[in-house]
Amino acid sequence: MKAGVGLFSALALFLLMGAVFTQRPKPKKPTRRPGTTRKPSVPKPAAPAQPEPQEPTDFPPPILGPPSIFPDCPRECLCSPSYPNSLNCENRNIRVIPVIPSRTHYLYLQNNYISEVTADAFVNASEVRWINLANNRIHRIDKKVFDKIPALLYLYVHRNQLKEVPSGLPATLEQLRLSKNHITKIPAGAFNKMENLTLLDLYHNQLSDRDLGKNTFRDLKSLMQLNLAHNILKKMPDGVPNSLIQLFLDRNSIDDIPKQVYNYFKGFTHLAFVRLNYNQLSDKGVPRAVFNISSLLDLQLAHNQLASLPLFNGNLEHLHLNHNNIESINGTLICPYNLQAFLGDESLVPKLRYLRLDGNHLSPPIPLDVIMCFRHLHSIVI
Ligand SMILES: *[C@@H]1O[C@H](CO)[C@@H](O)[C@H](O)[C@H]1NC(C)=O
Ligand SMILES: *[C@@H]1O[C@H](CO)[C@@H](O)[C@H](O)[C@H]1NC(C)=O
Ligand SMILES: *[C@@H]1O[C@H](CO)[C@@H](O)[C@H](O)[C@H]1NC(C)=O
Ligand SMILES: *[C@@H]1O[C@H](CO)[C@@H](O)[C@H](O)[C@H]1NC(C)=O
Repeated sequence: MKAGVGLFSALALFLLMGAVFTQRPKPKKPTRRPGTTRKPSVPKPAAPAQPEPQEPTDFPPPILGPPSIFPDCPRECLCSPSYPNSLNCENRNIRVIPVIPSRTHYLYLQNNYISEVTADAFVNASEVRWINLANNRIHRIDKKVFDKIPALLYLYVHRNQLKEVPSGLPATLEQLRLSKNHITKIPAGAFNKMENLTLLDLYHNQLSDRDLGKNTFRDLKSLMQLNLAHNILKKMPDGVPNSLIQLFLDRNSIDDIPKQVYNYFKGFTHLAFVRLNYNQLSDKGVPRAVFNISSLLDLQLAHNQLASLPLFNGNLEHLHLNHNNIESINGTLICPYNLQAFLGDESLVPKLRYLRLDGNHLSPPIPLDVIMCFRHLHSIVI
C-alpha cells in the first residue's frame, strides 16, 4: 500500500518537475562581493567622463568648487550644509589629500589620483568614522595616519596599489575593504585586537598560503564576512574565526579541505554561504561529510574536479556543482535523511530548492530517487 502511494506521488512530482526544469540558464557570473553588505550611503559617483590619464604629468588639476559656507571646507571638496559631518571629495582629480576639517565623520575620497596617505591631512580628523579611498593609486598608508583617527569604523581602500596590508590599523574597525590591490603580505599582528571587525575583504590580491598564518585572524571574534577569493591559495586558510557567516574562496588553487583532528568547519554554527568555485577540488581532497553543516544555506563548488556529490545537510537550499566531473547521482546516497524517515514528517523534507549540475557528464532524466528525496526542488539544471 505504502509503495503504491509513494509511486503515485513520485510520478506526480516527476511530471510536475518535467514541466519546470528543462532550460539551461545562461551561466551566472559568480558574484564576488558578499551580498548582504550594506555600504555607507555614499552618493554613487558618476563615472569620470574623460579617460584616465596614464602619466603623472597628465593629471588634470583638482576640480575647485565655489567657496563653501564652511570656512574650513577644502576648495577641492564639497561641504553640504545639510550634512555637516560629511566631506565629499570624490571624483575631484585630487592628488594630495587636503586638511580634513575636525567636524568630519564621513570622508569620501574615492575615484581620485591619490598615491600616498600621510598623517598631515589628518591632524584634526579625530572624529572620522568612515573613509572611502577606493579607486586611487595608493601604494602607501603611513601608519601614523591611524593614530589621528582613533574612532575609525569603516576603511575602504579597494582598487589601489597596496603591496601589503597597512600596519597600525585601529582596533575599532568594523569593515575593511582591501580588494583589488597587489597585496602579497600581511604584517604580523595586522588584524590584532579587532574584536569588532565584521567584514574583511581581501579579494583579488596575490596572497599565498604562507601569508596567512595560524594567528592572522585570531582576534577577529565578530568576523561575519571573509572574502579571500581570487588569490593564489593552495590550502584552506588556517585559523578562520568560527563566527563567519560568509566564506568566499573562489578562484584560488585549493585542492584539499583538511580533515585534521576534526572537520575543518566544526564549530561554525553560523556559516551560511560558502563559495569555492574555480578551485582544484577533487573527491580525494573533500572529506565526505565536510559540508554537512546544519547552518549552511548556499554551497558553491562549481568549476572543480569533483566526481561525486558531497554529502550535505537537509537545511541546504542552494547547491552549485556545475562544471565538475560528475557522471552519476545516487539520490539514495546523497539524501540527507533516510527516505522512510520523512514520509509522515514534512519538517524533515530536505530544503534544497536550487541545484546546478550542468557542465558535468550527466544527461536527463533526473533520477527518480533524487526527486523523491528533494521534494522542494524548484529548479535543477542538468
Ligand atoms: C586644527 O584645529 C584647530 C582648532 O580647531 C585649528 O586652530 C587648527 O588651525 C587646525 N589645524 C589645521 C592644520 O587645520
Ligand atoms: C567594540 O564594540 C564595543 C561595543 O560598541 C565597544 O564597547 C568596544 O570598545 C569596541 N572595541 C574596540 C576594540 O573598539
Ligand atoms: C550530518 O549532520 C547531521 C546533524 O546536522 C547528523 O545528524 C548526521 O549524522 C550527519 N551526517 C553525517 C554523514 O555525518
Ligand atoms: C544507490 O546507493 C544505494 C546505497 O548504497 C544502493 O543500494 C543503490 O543500489 C544505489 N543505486 C544505484 C542506482 O546505483
